[in-house]
Amino acid sequence: MLKIAVLISGGGTNLQSIIDSIENNYLNCCIECVICDKAGAFGIDRAKKHDIKTFVIDKKEHGVALSDKILEIVNEKVDLIVLAGFLSILKGDILKRFHNKIINIHPSLIPSFCGKGMYGIKVHERALEYGVKITGCTVHFVDEGTDTGSIIIQKAVKVLEDDTPETLQKRVLEQEHKALSEAIKLISEGRVKIEGRKIKIV
Ligand code: GRF
Repeated sequence: MLKIAVLISGGGTNLQSIIDSIENNYLNCCIECVICDKAGAFGIDRAKKHDIKTFVIDKKEHGVALSDKILEIVNEKVDLIVLAGFLSILKGDILKRFHNKIINIHPSLIPSFCGKGMYGIKVHERALEYGVKITGCTVHFVDEGTDTGSIIIQKAVKVLEDDTPETLQKRVLEQEHKALSEAIKLISEGRVKIEGRKIKIV
């Protein structure tokens, strides 16, 4: 069974969608632990409610050592690291040790509206300002860059005339929940084949 660590920074609705997908047997995997880089985040309560081991590695306290602290926790313990609303950038050994074993969910169709500083409601503000007709979300492998790894799944969301950043965010978040569990399922079934930058689902 695929063992995963889920990294969060906030409300944890993506974490909740993974928990729900396991409980309704859509996902055949086990959440070994949840790691949060922000004390008091509601996502920690979601994990505790389901007796999932939680660690808080406060980014303010650990700074550049954050990634190495996380590696200490997950090394040799999990098969996949899932960034689910995780706002710190992983660096150093963890990226090598877990090459093509870290995935992230981003609330836009990468390569639009992504990269440094592009997270949360800001992403949807930019999409509306730009006037795109279609936005969505992306699950991708994490590499040394920010939101630059190979793309596994994308889900499109139509932008409505009267959308606000909040109404758009809500609809994209619904698709994020589906896309993230779908990506984990494909990986757990060995159906994700990496061919250079391209990903093939077999
Ligand atoms: C979501 O928009 C997610 O795409 C982004 O962080 C936001 C909050 O996610 N990475 P969650 O509710 O904490 O899972």
